[in-house]
Amino acid sequence: METGFLHLHNLLRYFVVVLLILAVVKSFIGWFGKKEYTSGDNKISLFLLISAHLQLVIGLALYFLKGWNKQFEAGMAEVMKNETIRFWAVEHISSMIIGIAIITLGRIMAKKATTDSTKFRRQAVYFLLAMVLIFSAIPWPWSAVARPWF
Ligand code: HEM
Repeated sequence: METGFLHLHNLLRYFVVVLLILAVVKSFIGWFGKKEYTSGDNKISLFLLISAHLQLVIGLALYFLKGWNKQFEAGMAEVMKNETIRFWAVEHISSMIIGIAIITLGRIMAKKATTDSTKFRRQAVYFLLAMVLIFSAIPWPWSAVARPWF
């Protein structure tokens, strides 16, 4: 069960990362290039939202299955002292949840906008912010908490 969820989480990260980059780049091009907001733009933002929310559900299941919540029984100071425990028990989960909430807000705000330029601008700002946060909490191969990527 735990291994299955980890495989799924592993696979979905590519969708989230690629769709996020695509959504940010296309939003900036659309905003500064004064482009029309097409159904393709809407689909990228929708698929980004779906994959991010799926990643959230699987991530939450993994968090409890792997027992990262139990680390707090030793006290907050112990959790914060160890780089790996701090990353998985605190940093990864909190940055990702906030990042996904910002993606959700960005899509809602873009949908509410009445002009194409405002839709692109809102997406660009919210999705870029989410990208900075999410990318800062990924266990990149060059980070201290590295996990394999390929
Ligand atoms: C939004 C984008 C997210 C990305 C790109 C992402 C990325 C990753 C990556 C690359 C790993 C390492 C997998 C491996 O071991 O090979 C991982 C593991 C994990 N992630 Fe995420 N994650 C995301 C969101 C979340 C969220 C929202 C949560 C929790 C609510 C979460 C909880 C976890 C947990 C518990 C693990 C397993 C750590 C362990 O091995 O014990 N992730 N994630």
